Amino acid sequence: MGDVEKTLLEETAAWVDEARAKTERTKKPWGVWIDAELGLRNHWYPAALSRDVEDGGFQGITLLGEDILLARQGGRLFALEDRCPHRGVRFSARPLCYTPETLTCWYHTLTFNLDDGELRTILNEPDSPLIGKLRIKSYPLEERKGIVFVFVGDVAAPPLEHDVAPGLLDDDAVVYCADPYVIEANWRLACENGYDPGHQFIHNWSPFSVKNGIPMSFGWVSNQESVLRTTHYVDDDDGPKGFTRKAAETNIVQEARIPMRDGSVVDVTLPAAEGKTPEELREIAEYAHSCEVGLWMPCMLKVEPWPAEPCIHFEAYVPRDEGSHTYFQFGVMKTRDTAEADAWMNGRAREEWEIPTVEDFTIDDAFARKELQKFYGEEDGWLRERLYRPDIELTMWRKFVTKHARGVQTRDHARGYFPR
Ligand code: FES
Ligand code: FE
Repeated sequence: MGDVEKTLLEETAAWVDEARAKTERTKKPWGVWIDAELGLRNHWYPAALSRDVEDGGFQGITLLGEDILLARQGGRLFALEDRCPHRGVRFSARPLCYTPETLTCWYHTLTFNLDDGELRTILNEPDSPLIGKLRIKSYPLEERKGIVFVFVGDVAAPPLEHDVAPGLLDDDAVVYCADPYVIEANWRLACENGYDPGHQFIHNWSPFSVKNGIPMSFGWVSNQESVLRTTHYVDDDDGPKGFTRKAAETNIVQEARIPMRDGSVVDVTLPAAEGKTPEELREIAEYAHSCEVGLWMPCMLKVEPWPAEPCIHFEAYVPRDEGSHTYFQFGVMKTRDTAEADAWMNGRAREEWEIPTVEDFTIDDAFARKELQKFYGEEDGWLRERLYRPDIELTMWRKFVTKHARGVQTRDHARGYFPR
């Protein structure tokens, strides 16, 4: 491991210790993360699935607090500010395209170019001096692997690949997309939950674990040396930025006890561990050790393999507003064989990935994120949280983002105060 990881680890570890000892509020060294309630500006995000915007169709979405209209006309997809500059109504409330080149506001007929957002004409005042002077924001957009990616920001958009976990866009990646859904929790809580080594405990109650009789441990605990050995930090200028970690050297806790007041102890077992031999438990732990988990800027998690070879699981926690994010999940198989790719898209992905993962596993992550929201959203949780050792990896992520974010989204951006 390099010096960068070592420095990150030491600095953040010191903060965890200090946070445990202090009660007064202090400025934490991950300021950008604390400020990024609405997301990181100047990044690409998954915004919708291609299949949900048919030709001639529309979808109104909210990304980082900004209302955006997706419109597919004449076979081309556009992403436009969903706010009429005349009196502010959302076009998506009653979307109207008289031509494949234009969007007309349903209220007083201001009509804009779909491609660059400029005011083309006003149907009831075609000689208006506003024509050519007014415009709505047109967002950079790319459609890849059935996913619509939108860039939210003011700078020239970098290549999409810089903001996507490695592998998802590869030529040989066959991407099966689950239906995205909204979760009432801030996007940062979702990033942290996905990577959190201590959170595995919640999955003991996931249908996947129960149905298959797989105990999911009390959580992983790493010591600092093993974090250094197993964490790989990627921050090349010309590519995606993120962390990966193998569970290989973590201590997967499968036995625990609670000390009683009288000095005795009560052994606690995981529901699915009952009746399993130590040998069987070791095999399960080895299986868990084989996964590599990575968190990638701005908001994507990759688990490889998951739930088993040959599947790679990707998920994205896309900021929607202060109190919610849109949860995207993708099940990926790498192959160049078209028959195999067809089989993946038309049955295998559903059986081998979507049912065990989307329906039977990550619902517990969604549950946990929602439970975090009140404390972090309303009760100063970012300042009041009392971290413990396994949180070091989360604080490394917070510092990493603080260093590499291209910008922070503000409420003013969400209100439309940005260049067009
Ligand atoms: Fe859109 Fe008046 S509000 S034209
Ligand atoms: Fe999880």
